[in-house]
Amino acid sequence: MQEEALNAIRGADTLEALQSVKTQYLGKNGLVTAQLKTLGTLTPDERRERGAAINLLKQILEAATQARENELRQAALEARLASEAIDVTLPGLALPAGGLHVITRILYELSDIFTSLGYAVVEGQEVEDETHNFDALNMPAWHPARDLQDTFWLENGQVLRTHTSNMQIRYMETHEPPLKIVVPGRVYRYEATDATHESMFHQFEGLVVGEGITMADLKGAIAEMGRAMFGKNARVRFQPSYYPFVEPGADFAIWWDQEQRWLELGGSGMVHPNVFRAVDDLREARGLTRIYEGKTGFAFGLGPNRIAMLRYGIPDIRYFYANDLRVLTQFRGDLNSTAPHARAPKETM
Ligand code: DAH
Repeated sequence: MQEEALNAIRGADTLEALQSVKTQYLGKNGLVTAQLKTLGTLTPDERRERGAAINLLKQILEAATQARENELRQAALEARLASEAIDVTLPGLALPAGGLHVITRILYELSDIFTSLGYAVVEGQEVEDETHNFDALNMPAWHPARDLQDTFWLENGQVLRTHTSNMQIRYMETHEPPLKIVVPGRVYRYEATDATHESMFHQFEGLVVGEGITMADLKGAIAEMGRAMFGKNARVRFQPSYYPFVEPGADFAIWWDQEQRWLELGGSGMVHPNVFRAVDDLREARGLTRIYEGKTGFAFGLGPNRIAMLRYGIPDIRYFYANDLRVLTQFRGDLNSTAPHARAPKETM
């Protein structure tokens, strides 16, 4: 039995197997224990002799079990050390890195350009009231221009802002001139979607107010932006257009020299006197001074989506917001070259 047991112990190649061998021989119902139970039937002399022999067997098996257990534990530890060893000289694994969304990059780029011209970057609310989205922008309820924009109405009578122009009003309401701001942000239109229309998209608004501001200042600002974005040969073109909150109003395009084509980018104009008057009314209601009437200023609003579509060759505006990684991951490669990481502080209203 000793021979057999020792073979079984040495042959156990896992701790579980060893445990079951141990139980088989030394357990409460084990073979060695069974031998001890037979002692009662023997004469005292036989019992002493046999008892000593069985106890010796028991000690030998226990010692062998302990030795085998040590061996197995040591082997397991060595295997673990080998498998978990780290070769620090191996080349590192490239972790997949995220990147800024293309629209975010265009907005950052535009913000940087205007920041360098002394503008402040301001962000503000997307849920807006009629006053700031329409009325104060010279678009009273009866105004036909109000039909130009299809609006998402909320049950409480508020709207999802249809343009970033609401921030012109919000900013002037609480800040005094002179001022130069740009406003990147989301806007919403209730309209059928197709390759060039989406119910949520982005705008980039600008507003400058002071004394003696003219259309030449507007043109200078847009031209500066055009050169910064599209190279030194960029030119600007203004064409008369109508927006209720400016007079005169003009659409502007930038000559994209590299592609030899004009890019229709947005609307602009001189801030309408009615806008200044409405802002002063709002200020007065807050107990602030009427300070805008008689001031001059210009405003503009442009579409970053269009810039991104043309620059990156993205054929459908819906790709920007579908979160399809096949689209998004294409534009993270040159992230560092176009989007500086240190951003100018922006004001959130
Ligand atoms: N808010 C206009 C729109 O959504 C764009 C615009 C036009 C903004 C002329 C302006 C502006 O500030 O002066 O279509």
